[in-house]
Amino acid sequence: MTVQIDHALEEIRRFRPSPEFAAQAVADKHLYEAAAADRLGFWADQARELLQWEKPFTSTLDWSNPPFAKWFDDGELNVAVNCLDRHVAAGLGDRVALHWEGEPGDSRDVTYAELTDEVKRAANVLTELGIGEHDRVAIYLPMIPEAVVAMLACARIGAVHSVVFGGFSADSLASRIDDAEASLVITADGGYRKGKVFPLKPVVDEALQKSEGDTVRNVLVVRRGENDVELVDGRDHWWHDTVGQASNEHEPKAFGAEHPLFILYTSGTTGKPKGILHTSGGYLTQAAFTHRNVFDLHPERDVYWCTADVGWITGHSYVVYGPLANGATQVLYEGTPDTPHPGRWWEIVEKYGVTILYTAPTAIRSFMKLGRQIPHEFNLRSLRLLGSVGEPINPEAWIWYRHVIGGGSIPVVDTWWQTETGAIMISALPGVTDLKPGSAQVAIPGVSVDILSDDGERVDGEGGGLLVITEPWPSMLRGIWGDPERFKETYWEKFGDKYFAGDGARRDEDGDIWLLGRVDDVMNVSGHRLSTAEIESSLVAHPYTAEAAVVGASDETTGQAVVAFVILKASQVSHIDDPAIASEELRKHVAMQIGAIARPRQVFIVNELPKTRSGKIMRRLLRDLAEGRQVGDTTTLADTSVMTAITRQVQ
Ligand code: WT7
Repeated sequence: MTVQIDHALEEIRRFRPSPEFAAQAVADKHLYEAAAADRLGFWADQARELLQWEKPFTSTLDWSNPPFAKWFDDGELNVAVNCLDRHVAAGLGDRVALHWEGEPGDSRDVTYAELTDEVKRAANVLTELGIGEHDRVAIYLPMIPEAVVAMLACARIGAVHSVVFGGFSADSLASRIDDAEASLVITADGGYRKGKVFPLKPVVDEALQKSEGDTVRNVLVVRRGENDVELVDGRDHWWHDTVGQASNEHEPKAFGAEHPLFILYTSGTTGKPKGILHTSGGYLTQAAFTHRNVFDLHPERDVYWCTADVGWITGHSYVVYGPLANGATQVLYEGTPDTPHPGRWWEIVEKYGVTILYTAPTAIRSFMKLGRQIPHEFNLRSLRLLGSVGEPINPEAWIWYRHVIGGGSIPVVDTWWQTETGAIMISALPGVTDLKPGSAQVAIPGVSVDILSDDGERVDGEGGGLLVITEPWPSMLRGIWGDPERFKETYWEKFGDKYFAGDGARRDEDGDIWLLGRVDDVMNVSGHRLSTAEIESSLVAHPYTAEAAVVGASDETTGQAVVAFVILKASQVSHIDDPAIASEELRKHVAMQIGAIARPRQVFIVNELPKTRSGKIMRRLLRDLAEGRQVGDTTTLADTSVMTAITRQVQ
């Protein structure tokens, strides 16, 4: 096991909840007691309390065929109705659901009544385009209200959405469309990023040319960037011509609690992304429960802002499903944190009076670098709770977040979870738990985790081990799309009936959990998951490359950074005058093939790679090199002089 992220293990600061915060807190310690006394009864109560069921369930968990869980299986509900119609019916139609802020400064408030209306229209259009229950719809949109509408319109008619992050390339989009056999793509002409319009529809056109499945029959295009696009007759339709003209009357149907809700692709240890499948009732229960209790949501007075893009799981659970199920008012921001100026986020907090902010450590660390004077120019006194997600937050960043952004006394919750877990699994409960910077702390009520050694023994104390989830939970993934074997192998083979998360962790003397980073070939760059294998196969697909090895090296701002070592083909070496040009070309190539987030920080051109006698690349040694450390034990290398040669080439 390799633990890649060093922690301030001696961190000892503790912060008690303030009596004022505790007095008004949504969560209370009885949640732990109730869940400990009757775990399934606890989740059944949450499901009944937080959601509207068209047909009540009588079965809470069916675990008769592990690892395929069924939660609330005989119950029926409509996820979109839970996020929209029921709030309108309760008289909350005029409440703002979305304070949308475009990057160039245009903005639009959307109330629950308006959002419901728009979703009904979109549902009618999807049906007219032939989309039915279980059909897959790929969504490739910027952070605009239509992204939320598109997801909920799918949910409303029982179609399955597969949101693809707008930063992914045509190749990545094509392979996701093919894997899910999507029949419709919802996109925009373009969106704003860093002050410019980035085209999306042209990428969809390219993806559809590359797609091997030929499953897509229609493309819906939202007008946002006003960039030039071509519409293919009979296939492509403007959103405003269709959704804009459609009827706003739509009778929702109730679906079984295990009806598939969405697929979301994430990187694994092989080159092929996994389509993580989530279903309806259990997913929505845990998303709503955690959103309410971990963020202390008071929907009548809070303004909540999660900065994640809807292309990631955080955007699914904590921009769309959790907040809307809870009737929250939230900010949706299209652009980057520093456009047109480095105080943009803080300006937005001030403008809307944001009370709850949920973001990633990488963002906090980039703000730290810029200095406190930037946030200090804005009034951030509305903030009363801060959240962090995506990677371990180092205590220094935690303290800075609490002091500089939070004014020094408000709770910061570090939330551990994954695309696969669907919702938060480990976090403090604000107002209840004493906070400890750097630790994600404790499993939420109703969730059971443990730390095991490689051979399945429980590990207590400093050494650390592998994080597992010991009992099924409502929002757990139900599988990998089209690949039940891979689902079993990846998560359930190592420890039998326990879910193997792929993270290292240790428990301290108080029982608090500290996450130590991934233990597999998955990297975490700015809170985004990337696979070494996927980037390696992209590099070897380039005509220059003979062989490639990729490692995640620790990086001050992004947590980890992609560092590649490439051997050029002998036939190419004579044409390449300057290795710097080759490495720049390869960096660009990866960004083109996968997406800009995968662009290596560095590509080192080398003559050899460190291999064991059996031919396995020793990435550990390359990571030492990439992180500027003394190179570790090389005795198992086939040729021990290789690292010396590589070190010389890299320097
Ligand atoms: C991986 C999951 C969950 C939404 C964002 C990422 C890492 C996530 C934390 C945290 C330490 C964290 C883990 C996990 N991770 N949150 N609070 N502390 N590590 O979702 O892309 O599925 O990645 O992110 O390594 O396995 P994801």
